[in-house]
Amino acid sequence: MKFLPLTSAIALVAVIIFLVLNRDNPEPPETPSDPNSATEAEAPIDDSSPEPEPEPEPEPEPEPDSTIADNDPQKPTDATEQEYVPAPPTHNYYSKGEKTRDGTGKYYQDREISYVMGHPAINWLERPEREDEEAPAKAMDLLDLKETDVLADIGAGSGYYSLRIAMQNPKSAVIGVDIQKEMIAFLEQRITQLDVENVTTHLGKIDTIGLPPESIDAALMVDAYHEFSHPYEMMTSIVKALRPGGRVFLLEYRAEDPTVPIKPLHKMTQGQAKKEMALVGLKWEKTRDELPWQHFMVFRKP
Ligand SMILES: C[S@@+](CC[C@H](N)C(=O)[O-])C[C@H]1O[C@@H](n2cnc3c(N)ncnc32)[C@H](O)[C@@H]1O
Repeated sequence: MKFLPLTSAIALVAVIIFLVLNRDNPEPPETPSDPNSATEAEAPIDDSSPEPEPEPEPEPEPEPDSTIADNDPQKPTDATEQEYVPAPPTHNYYSKGEKTRDGTGKYYQDREISYVMGHPAINWLERPEREDEEAPAKAMDLLDLKETDVLADIGAGSGYYSLRIAMQNPKSAVIGVDIQKEMIAFLEQRITQLDVENVTTHLGKIDTIGLPPESIDAALMVDAYHEFSHPYEMMTSIVKALRPGGRVFLLEYRAEDPTVPIKPLHKMTQGQAKKEMALVGLKWEKTRDELPWQHFMVFRKP
């Protein structure tokens, strides 16, 4: 019997080991920068498809001895945010509960916080039908901004509202704030393309807007507040950033209206919003309900 040369034999053994190890090769793990590990790429549209068969519950992981905030599944996974650990809450407003299909299992004021809409769904924010569904021109008129107002659009996403507001109010200043650097990059590109001079961008953190105290006249949140993973801390930081008498505009899809085709956790009732804003010291001023799908709620910092 002839023997293979030693090098060929080693190569053959290596190939066999490689084939055996890769026989049932699992899906590659999500890369740390994959936004879907922190956010949901899907748009929040409710297609009314039947609930999928429930998957068997995975064995619960042993709980580390820490707060809900520290375990938050929505922690952004990009390099800068990975190092950012929000301070543990100094209150007990958050609790853990049933994690529903589009939710995080983290509850605030009896509401389950939804997942953050990830940047891969950015086109949904820019969809042409939005003009009919949300009447943004009407919403902008309702803002009733003064010429010199500084407005922070918090959870600005693609900048759909930031840019429209800035172009309609060329003497005001708009700050587009988001926690996803991809959203900020998209907005910056649009600012350059459209040559809009009165919009700046700001990369916020999941628990703070990060703007100086009393530096803004108005804060706008369109379809964003319900997905803040740290709503109490975020709103506290927004109230600090507002000048006395400053206004908060909260636009949320109407949860009272079953015909609004948006996933339940991406909608909010007026009562819920008023309860949550009162908790951070904001005074409800009025609600305008002439928008097709959203409440337009106005709160004021005393
Ligand atoms: C559904 S999008 C809405 C975007 C935009 N307001 C619009 O109506 O086109 C919600 C945005 O809120 C952002 N967001 C979530 N939590 C945030 C936080 N704590 N601070 C700032 N932005 C946040 C998300 O990254 C996402 O871009």
